[in-house]
Amino acid sequence: QDNYLTLADGQQMPQEGFGLYKVDGQGTMTAAIQHAFEDGYRLFDTAQLYGNEAEVGTALKQLALPRDEIFVTTKVAEENQGYDRAIASVKESLQKLQLDYVDLLLVHWPIERSFFETWRAFEDMKKEGLTKSIGVSNFEMIHLQYLATQAHEMPVVDQIELHPLLTQKPLLKFNQDHQIITQAWSPLGRGAVLGQDVLKQIAAQHQKSPAQVILRWHLQNGVSFIPKSVHEARIAQNAAIYDFSLTPAEMAQIDALNNYQRTGREPELVYEYNRQY
Ligand code: A2P
Repeated sequence: QDNYLTLADGQQMPQEGFGLYKVDGQGTMTAAIQHAFEDGYRLFDTAQLYGNEAEVGTALKQLALPRDEIFVTTKVAEENQGYDRAIASVKESLQKLQLDYVDLLLVHWPIERSFFETWRAFEDMKKEGLTKSIGVSNFEMIHLQYLATQAHEMPVVDQIELHPLLTQKPLLKFNQDHQIITQAWSPLGRGAVLGQDVLKQIAAQHQKSPAQVILRWHLQNGVSFIPKSVHEARIAQNAAIYDFSLTPAEMAQIDALNNYQRTGREPELVYEYNRQY
């Protein structure tokens, strides 16, 4: 895999990454990261909320992966929002990860009460070199517009729930228009989409699996995506999507599966912004 996307701040980010949500236990973690690296994944995505940053750190150390070849993302949990807490929590994350910096730091969920202070902390942490890039997760258009009223720098990534049952076209277009790279979490819809007949048919046509078809759909949509598996064969399978392509008609058939179905929670609205603007 040598597909990289250029972020608005100039940093290069691998388009496909490896998600570490619910990858738990040191043995499982180290094996998953090792197989992923061997299969060509370079981006590893964790979060304070996942409770596995220390295991990620140990795995990276055990495997001695070259720092400048990997791209590590973590996310600040809701309970750590606010200026001081955000900074203290990121220093703790770096300690657990055994890293001097992360490549991408995300605000995990929008919360109204600490919106701007948290973002100011992010801008300062980037200046201080604790992270190369700053972004957000689970932000809808309204959150990004609200942030834009006070931000000095806008997020370069918005990581959102995105898969064939939740195609998010308006947000994708908005992000694209604002130089924000969209990154898909649960790119396979936590497995809920895999049984769809349309996907099975397209998969059979290309002698690929439904999971590979979905990931290829993300790839051709130009978004970043971070599938997760703890099984060696699936980790490999999810990286083997660079030797076929979907036709425009097939892309449209997959788009048509959209039914606004979330597997995760709904981002909170920002009431003050709604009132003011
Ligand atoms: P497992 O880790 O047991 O392999 P998402 O990334 O959308 O959250 O979905 C991840 C879920 O899909 C996980 O439960 C993972 O399970 C499963 N999964 C990952 N890759 C594949 C695949 N290629 N085929 C089938 N299921 C997969």
